[in-house]
Amino acid sequence: MVATGKISLGTVVAFNGYLWMLIMPVRMLGWIVNVISQAIIAGKRVFSVLDTGSSIKEKEDAHCPSEFRGDVVFENVSFCYKEQPVLFNININVPAGKTIGIMGATGAGKTSIINLIGRFYDVTAGRVLVDGVDVRDWKLSALRSQIGPNATREEVIEAAKIAGAHDFIMEMPQGYDTIIGERGVGLSGGQKQRIAIARAILKNPKILIMDDCTSAVDMETEYQIQQALQKVMKGRTTFIIAHRISSVRNADEIIFLENGKIVERGTHEELLAKKGRYYELYKQQYKDFEEFQPKRQVM
Ligand SMILES: Nc1ncnc2c1ncn2[C@@H]1O[C@H](COP(=O)(O)OP(=O)(O)OP(=O)(O)O)[C@@H](O)[C@H]1O
Ligand SMILES: [Mg+2]
Repeated sequence: MVATGKISLGTVVAFNGYLWMLIMPVRMLGWIVNVISQAIIAGKRVFSVLDTGSSIKEKEDAHCPSEFRGDVVFENVSFCYKEQPVLFNININVPAGKTIGIMGATGAGKTSIINLIGRFYDVTAGRVLVDGVDVRDWKLSALRSQIGPNATREEVIEAAKIAGAHDFIMEMPQGYDTIIGERGVGLSGGQKQRIAIARAILKNPKILIMDDCTSAVDMETEYQIQQALQKVMKGRTTFIIAHRISSVRNADEIIFLENGKIVERGTHEELLAKKGRYYELYKQQYKDFEEFQPKRQVM
């Protein structure tokens, strides 16, 4: 049409420009419709998570004592996560101030036992008593007493020294003012564990739970932390979960779990005398050690 002079070249250019101005919004419209439908679906999922109520319900007149001793008793406790049974008929009695060691292969149910004390889950059968009162009758905040520690700098440094964290903290450019990432990003596994121990010491609870708390430190550091913890554990009911015999050998009672059942129990000496699973583990863990001992020279 330009060639035949029906329209000018400018009209063609203008027409082309208008065409693009029309196409872009139409494309955008399709894209926006797409994004909106994605957002609606995602929003539903987010709100379904936010609206989930806790299955753990506190009683109206929940138990909230002023004194806390720290006796823990498991009476014929069985426990399932949804359908999967995890613990079977567990009986444990830890009087206030005593230490119990819990051993067993990975997946045996050690952490599950511990989760029942703070009532993070409810038992399926039997009951868990803290200071003689069923945990289901306790006020959750009193039971967990999860209020953050309010400590002076001196107390913080003291706790860090006990936990063997002071030296590496001082090596950091900002020392005790270092900001660490969420869940300890930027620290090594062993450093995280030592910080966690220091926090537990600061919190000064009656019941101290140490679930695999020195698994990521070397034997030497573990030994030093244990020595320090001996002092902290005095007068506290302590649960130690560990894979190393050296962590639990001083406990008042050691229980050995297998597939959610207690298969052996007793003190370190009693369990060694039984020559059962604990003894096998002991041999395994100390075999290497003995091999490294220099053979006695015959003169
Ligand atoms: N939140 C959960 N939901 C469903 N099943 C779970 C849950 N937590 C643990 N389990 C299952 O319960 C069993 C016991 O797990 P638990 O964490 O108590 O083992 P563990 O003895 O602490 O092991 P580890 O030494 O590895 O820490 C395992 O079979 C595990 O798969
Ligand atoms: Mg565990």
